[in-house]
Amino acid sequence: MKKINFCSGPAILPQSVYVDTQRSLLDFKDTGLSILELSHRSIYIVDMIEETKALVKELLYINDEYEILFLHGGASLQFCMIPYNFSLTNNTSIYTLTGQWASNAYNEAKLFSETSILVDSSNQNFSYLPYIEEKYSFDNSNYIHFTSNNTIYGTQWKSFPKCNIPLIVDMSSDIFSKKIEVNNFDLIYAGAQKNLGAAGVCMVIIKKAMLEKQNKNIPTMLDYAVHVKNNSSFNTPPVFAIYTCLLNLQWLKMQGGVDKIEEINNKKAAILYDEIERNSLFECVVKNEKDRSIMNAVFVAKNNDVEKYFKKFCLENGIVGIDGYRTIGGFRASLYNALPLESVETFIDMMKDFETNHA
Ligand SMILES: Cc1ncc(COP(=O)(O)O)c(C=O)c1O
Repeated sequence: MKKINFCSGPAILPQSVYVDTQRSLLDFKDTGLSILELSHRSIYIVDMIEETKALVKELLYINDEYEILFLHGGASLQFCMIPYNFSLTNNTSIYTLTGQWASNAYNEAKLFSETSILVDSSNQNFSYLPYIEEKYSFDNSNYIHFTSNNTIYGTQWKSFPKCNIPLIVDMSSDIFSKKIEVNNFDLIYAGAQKNLGAAGVCMVIIKKAMLEKQNKNIPTMLDYAVHVKNNSSFNTPPVFAIYTCLLNLQWLKMQGGVDKIEEINNKKAAILYDEIERNSLFECVVKNEKDRSIMNAVFVAKNNDVEKYFKKFCLENGIVGIDGYRTIGGFRASLYNALPLESVETFIDMMKDFETNHA
């Protein structure tokens, strides 16, 4: 049975990515060699990385003030690289605690920097986004860090404040899902395994001016300037994972780019949240509509029996990856770019059928 995969990451990628990566394993671009055996210094791989960077820039309208990096270590390594690179003595690094990943980033920063917390929604298990001003002016501060989409708790910032210090955002679970004005950010990072490609690579979009704000004495592999200078190939980059990003971005371009996918993503989220609200057996965890994530819809059943039977019903009907995170329980439907609208419609029909038979 063909499965519908709502997993939060690693997540569904377009079918064309699976087919083209499979081909590249046997013969990469008619080289007679597998992508797995090609040197990262060969013209084929150097060109492939350049092409991926160019496509990132094209799809997000990024100008030459920014550099694109593909790094090892996932988004989690960025949690430490950021404070390591940009914390100056006597300055504070500011964090917004709106979920598990945001808290992980903050905890890591505490190892290298004075820190402070601007807002914190842990008092209600991260089920809402706290109020923030449109503008801030901070003294003696390194940067402010946000997590744009809280993958586990299903909240998503729709805008960010204007600040007098660098704005750094973890966009692991909503990059490429909608238009963003990259000029408003100083550093964006995203683990690939949701909307970008296979696990194993983290994309960083860094404003070149940030390199002037760096600490000295940074271990080589943690130093952004080293990766910029070496075009993400100071050591062997995760070539295969980067290639999946290229294929995925080519697919995205064919779909009409970020503008078009945003329309589809909004529709998927709208019809699913409508059904959760309508269905007598389920409820949304995030009550405030404007805080809800377009990428990860988190909901619970109104009683334990419904939860148990609906999980079984999902498995029997080819729905996978729908379980909520262990600190919330319930359900989480991840609606990344590659998940077709029809899959969401099928799921909604199933929720209706289930209600008819179990209400
Ligand atoms: C928003 C966010 N940040 C960071 C991470 C951690 O990513 P990685 O596993 O690449 O370190 C995740 C993983 O799901 C995430 O959703």
